[in-house]
Amino acid sequence: MVKLVDAPHSKCGTLGYVGSSPTAPTLMNTYSRFNISFKKGKGCWLWDDKGKKYLDAVSGIATCSLGHSDRVLRKALTSQLKKLQHVSNLYQIDEQELLSKWLTDHSCAESVFFCNSGAEANESAIKLLKKYGNLIDKEKESIILTAKSSFHGRTFAALSATGQPKYHEGFKPLLSGFNFFEYNNIDAVKTLFEKFKSSNQFISGVLIEPIQGEGGVIEGNKFFFKQLRELCTEHNALLIFDEVQSGVGRTGRLWGYQNLDIEPDAFTLAKGLGGGHPIGALLVNRKANIFNPGDHASTFGGNPFACKAALTVLEEIQNRNLLKNVYLRGKQLEEGLELISQKFPELVTEKRGIGLLQGLVIKKEYKDAKAIAMKALEMGLLIVPAGGNVIRLVPPLIISSNEIKELIKRLNLIFEAIVKTN
Ligand SMILES: Cc1ncc(COP(=O)(O)O)c(C=O)c1O
Repeated sequence: MVKLVDAPHSKCGTLGYVGSSPTAPTLMNTYSRFNISFKKGKGCWLWDDKGKKYLDAVSGIATCSLGHSDRVLRKALTSQLKKLQHVSNLYQIDEQELLSKWLTDHSCAESVFFCNSGAEANESAIKLLKKYGNLIDKEKESIILTAKSSFHGRTFAALSATGQPKYHEGFKPLLSGFNFFEYNNIDAVKTLFEKFKSSNQFISGVLIEPIQGEGGVIEGNKFFFKQLRELCTEHNALLIFDEVQSGVGRTGRLWGYQNLDIEPDAFTLAKGLGGGHPIGALLVNRKANIFNPGDHASTFGGNPFACKAALTVLEEIQNRNLLKNVYLRGKQLEEGLELISQKFPELVTEKRGIGLLQGLVIKKEYKDAKAIAMKALEMGLLIVPAGGNVIRLVPPLIISSNEIKELIKRLNLIFEAIVKTN
């Protein structure tokens, strides 16, 4: 039985998912971990140290696009390791050029900067917005707008941009220059553009997720985004999408912005891009292509190994027609979740999401989403909580029809068990 207890070496009372063996005291106490250790993975399945098998609807939190231990990715990376693993950005890097060509050929961007994670990609975007603001007017402070309930990462600027007060606790004062509006509420954005019109500050851009993941799987509204695009253009502000979670096929389109029928000036990627290998990216159109040598850099960013991983993931998404798979399996998942929400109205209030980024809103007074994730773990299914008491389902993009059936079957059993014992 997995228990939620005080982490043993915590000095600040952080809750940890601790069972028989505690988190190693040699690791800093930054994570609440389940007491489980996976030893093997294949496709959408993981095995723990006792040989128990789990269906993985977390995929490293929307990261293992091709599932675990994919044969093609394994082969590509093994041969890359034999050839060349890392060289500095002081030199030309073939794999980086190939990857940037693929990305720009298949998106609205014309140029790419590579880094190693989602927070770093957003950090790059924030720096870009600051530089853009400086180019427009050096005398005034440029302001960046982001949405409430957004999540942009844990580095200091990305954290300051994140519109969830719970992540700010203990780290104040945060960076100034960020203002927050209610997601999908265009009047709130208009009010901010008006507010800064005649002050000694101005809005240089908006950083926003096309679908909020961490904040509770909240889909962007098409009409809102159309007006947001128009507002940014009208005010000469850049519109930057955080596609760290929504990008690389997760929604059934290659990029989340394609669901909204608009194009951003720039967007960020990470998570699913490397299929489990660390790589992040900032992609820009002509207007936002303003970095010069010395403006930004990363030692590891875009190294041959990471780029080979990303290139292989993207090519496999194409070769295996995975966008269609995400669309079809997404519909199947949606139908299954809809039936579950009808069957357990005392537990579920709403089904949310698109493609293979979906969630169920759980009634907080009935059950905590984390407790459901723990019960699911016990019953051989991995799911991940999100804000607003949501359980999030983000399986690998390769998931099959039978595996979706199994996922729904297991969720039904988990909910039945919860309702029975509540
Ligand atoms: C939308 C979004 N942006 C940024 C991040 C941060 O990414 P990373 O953990 O790779 O720094 C996340 C992570 O969950 C995310 O979902």
